[in-house]
Amino acid sequence: MLKFKATNMQDKFSKKARIEGYKARSVYKLQDLDKKYKLIKKNQKILDLGCWPGSWLQYCQNKLGNTGLILGIDKQEILGLDVNFLKKDVMDKDIISEIRKISVDFDLVLSDLAPKTTGTLDSDLSLDLSNRALYIAENVLRYKGNFLVKIFQGKDTNKFIEKLKKKFRFVKSTKPMASKKTSKEIYIICLLKR
Ligand SMILES: C[S@@+](CC[C@H](N)C(=O)[O-])C[C@H]1O[C@@H](n2cnc3c(N)ncnc32)[C@H](O)[C@@H]1O
Repeated sequence: MLKFKATNMQDKFSKKARIEGYKARSVYKLQDLDKKYKLIKKNQKILDLGCWPGSWLQYCQNKLGNTGLILGIDKQEILGLDVNFLKKDVMDKDIISEIRKISVDFDLVLSDLAPKTTGTLDSDLSLDLSNRALYIAENVLRYKGNFLVKIFQGKDTNKFIEKLKKKFRFVKSTKPMASKKTSKEIYIICLLKR
């Protein structure tokens, strides 16, 4: 019965994304968090890490209109979107200098970075990516800027959250409605960089 319900939800968000012209159902995770925490506003500079296929970029574009600046980064090429994009691995040594060529003071850093799921090592790989996203945010986010980061829950998640609390004034983990109940992913909202 539960399985049937989860599948129904998944279909609901995938179908909605197709109808509304979004590249992925994950857009509704960002929309949900944006409605609660007012993350995305006109004129902002937004960095989106792990942006492929681009539904978060589309959402940000819709909210910003012609204002602000959006930069997406992913290992995979995005198609059909008119937005600043770097095809890059976030682990590359020159990642900070490449981002700084576009801007040095982002208002918001988003990270939906996710490893290819294999089963056993997923949460460790996800933690590496989340730590990398935090390192990038520390280097290119302005004072009092905000950060949203995905992580697959594992034994070290709490330690990561404690680390975030040292860097941001408000930190809260949450599971948006469109996130599959069976997935270990959670999103951590970090407001007001110290
Ligand atoms: C869940 S998808 C992002 C979906 C996106 N937020 C959207 O709504 O369209 C996660 C992305 O992280 C990217 N990724 C994973 N590891 C990466 C890395 N080391 N460097 C850059 N991108 C990476 C993957 O290529 C994948 O496209």
